[in-house]
Amino acid sequence: MRTFRTLDKNSNQTSFITQKFEETFGGPPTFIAAAPGRVNLIGEHTDYNDGYVFPVAIDKYINIAARKRPDRRVTLHALDVDDSWEFSIDTLSTIPPQAPTWSHYFIGVASLLQAPGREISGIDAVITGDVPIGAGLSSSAALSVAATLAFLTASSELETVGSEDNKKKLAALCQRVEHEFVDVKCGIMDQTISLLGQKNHALFLDCRSLEYEHVPLNLGEHAIAICNTKVKRELAASEYNKRRAECERGVEILSRWIPGISSLRDIALTDFKKYEEELPALTQKRCRYVIEENARVLEAVSVLKGRSQSASEETDASLIRFGSLMNASHNGLRDDYEVSCKELDLLTDIARSITGVIGSRMTGAGFGGCTVSIVHQDALEIFQTRVTTEYHEQTGIEPEIYLCNVSDGAQVFRLF
Ligand code: GLA
Repeated sequence: MRTFRTLDKNSNQTSFITQKFEETFGGPPTFIAAAPGRVNLIGEHTDYNDGYVFPVAIDKYINIAARKRPDRRVTLHALDVDDSWEFSIDTLSTIPPQAPTWSHYFIGVASLLQAPGREISGIDAVITGDVPIGAGLSSSAALSVAATLAFLTASSELETVGSEDNKKKLAALCQRVEHEFVDVKCGIMDQTISLLGQKNHALFLDCRSLEYEHVPLNLGEHAIAICNTKVKRELAASEYNKRRAECERGVEILSRWIPGISSLRDIALTDFKKYEEELPALTQKRCRYVIEENARVLEAVSVLKGRSQSASEETDASLIRFGSLMNASHNGLRDDYEVSCKELDLLTDIARSITGVIGSRMTGAGFGGCTVSIVHQDALEIFQTRVTTEYHEQTGIEPEIYLCNVSDGAQVFRLF
């Protein structure tokens, strides 16, 4: 089982990226911007429905080592894909067709950070990370957040524009980058947790008001285990946008019977049950899932908040309830929202059959990517063995398993 490394000034990761920067640019970087990936414990596909989510930041990061340039050019080298790109902040009106997808995040961030009275500086930067790409752990949100902090640091705006109070605005800016420069109509969860994560806490976020609470993650003797199916579905982006549209259609139809609603978040399960027959069958399933999932998040948060630090029968029962809410969430994503896939189902089935696993579900957008399971520490070894062997036997794929430490949100480490 692997544990994650934390980036600090003296870590191997820091010296690795610093050395690569020197090899690329012939001098040292002046800072490193590091933004974490995330795993969502419960509240999937609820963010773009104005609902509730409950993610944690994990100690896997996208790191950008950079220094300010005297001009407005941006020269980038992405170590993990061994690719480079260069552009000028002065000529940002369109993305050239040959620009690699990863560079769109920098182009998008630089464009959106420009504001009257704010001069964004050029940077030299190298990028590397250990958030697996396209695995549902938000590598792209981490990239846009790290790019934002890099530009703000180089432009001496980190303490103002990047201040604690402004983090929600920065999350919204990073979400716009996805919408306008990458064409993924994502919600606000991933960018927010990457910026606002707190060590050993989950973030209970209301995606309508953007009010949030850091809830202590008191899992007793249990750990968070992430299992990567290593499967990526090309369909993910188009199906994601379709689900969004189906939910909007549901709200439009239901608003004829339930006045005053503007999103699925506004509908109580009892009201939904009265009018669900008015919806086409597929729309009905999609809406039911989202409405039930919002209720599950609220219960999961209250169950966790109610747990005392001391282990007792009562607290164990509450953790078991938390786990069954995670299981129910997966079942809804599989049967009603239909964003799971056979590999995700297999991983959750194997996990749930192991004594000591209290809950297991897919996490992120779906159609591949990762599951998240809550596992008793005494069961971790058997968990790893059984998941690896049984998943491999049935799919021919070696899954990856990460033991997750819950970490702080994005940070900048100044080197000079
Ligand atoms: C992706 C999106 C998020 C969220 C999840 C599903 O990670 O970026 O906004 O919608 O899928 O919960």
